Amino acid sequence: MTTDHRTRPHATPATPARVTVMGAYGHTGRFVVAELRRHGLVPILSGRTPQRLAALGELHPDLETRPATVDDPDSLDRALAGASAVINCAGPFASTAAPVIDAALRAHVPYLDVTAETEVVLDTLAAYGDRARAAGGLIVPAVAFYGGLGDLLATAAAGDWTTGDADTGTAVDRISIAYALSGWRPTDGTRITGQVSSARRSGGRILYADGRLRTRSGDAPRADWTFPDPIGTRPVVGEFTMADSATIPTHLAVKDIDTCMTVSAVDDLRSADPSGPVAVDESGRSAQTFLVEVVATRDGETRRAVASGQDIYAVTAPLVVEAARRVLADPHRPSGVVTAGALADPRDFLTSLAPGHLTLDFTN
Ligand SMILES: NC(=O)c1ccc[n+]([C@@H]2O[C@H](COP(=O)([O-])OP(=O)(O)OC[C@H]3O[C@@H](n4cnc5c(N)ncnc54)[C@H](OP(=O)(O)O)[C@@H]3O)[C@@H](O)[C@H]2O)c1
Repeated sequence: MTTDHRTRPHATPATPARVTVMGAYGHTGRFVVAELRRHGLVPILSGRTPQRLAALGELHPDLETRPATVDDPDSLDRALAGASAVINCAGPFASTAAPVIDAALRAHVPYLDVTAETEVVLDTLAAYGDRARAAGGLIVPAVAFYGGLGDLLATAAAGDWTTGDADTGTAVDRISIAYALSGWRPTDGTRITGQVSSARRSGGRILYADGRLRTRSGDAPRADWTFPDPIGTRPVVGEFTMADSATIPTHLAVKDIDTCMTVSAVDDLRSADPSGPVAVDESGRSAQTFLVEVVATRDGETRRAVASGQDIYAVTAPLVVEAARRVLADPHRPSGVVTAGALADPRDFLTSLAPGHLTLDFTN
């Protein structure tokens, strides 16, 4: 069946929306496909390697498979034809984001991705902010464990601290994001993406300070962070800047963002073990657990939001699918490049994921 890809079908009970998943057979893409199905949406499976796509298609014989490569715009147009949205799970996004966004704009459908690449979020804002707004298109980058969850928690913690100080323009003095992972067995995609990001920074690291991202060299600082029970005080690597430092400032005037990660997780990430996550339940989740604590500070007052759960790759799927569902259901959805924290009420968004995916605690 051919469908005019300029049309914008919307979800109704009779015709469930179709959502193209780029990189559908990757580790994260598979979680996203399963989560879309759980909500009655119909994934269109896409990716660049026909054999891997066909193998996933055998597990979902009722779904369409549409091979597409980022250097062939026609193949991307075919992959998006008749879809109501596209979720890009193919990374490094330094290679895939722009061509898939271009295809989404041509197809007049919203684009969402799960990038963890800070620079890709910045590139997306710079290249597509005005273009998408002018075209009435919506681009939602980094709706994922890194980039999305911290953005939602920070925005929820800041609450009504949205108005900038009359002198400085700053609404929040500092946002601290502390990640505690029980372990981290990265996927191939994470490893390759880390190499691409590191090369872009010439081996340096980035830090959001005094209202902008800057590059640092030398060793990252180490300290202790006291997480809520039962984790308690753990050694952490500081200046472990993630995509949250690009997403949060798009809508919250914050002076400094500092990010830290438990040392054991950083050591796991840098180890040579290529084995990747190991599934321990029928949904494919690994035994990895996470806790993310976000502290917002203004004029000496602090507000806190905490989320914990299981498997950073698996939880990315409910984050991005919830965003897609809200976008598809909203006849007045915004246009431009919009990040998770600005897409919807962040507390409502997070709370909707609490059953089964997140345990939440807010102090304000
Ligand atoms: N922000 C977050 O918290 C978060 C969470 C999960 C994942 N991610 C990101 O998502 C990406 C995928 O991670 P993963 O864990 O799913 O890794 P994975 O299992 O290794 O899968 C990588 C996927 O990307 C595809 N891909 C890679 N380069 C491509 C290109 N140039 N064109 C088209 N497809 C390409 C791969 O297709 P082939 O196998 O055909 O090469 C595969 O489908 C990574 O960039 C990772 O950092 C971010």
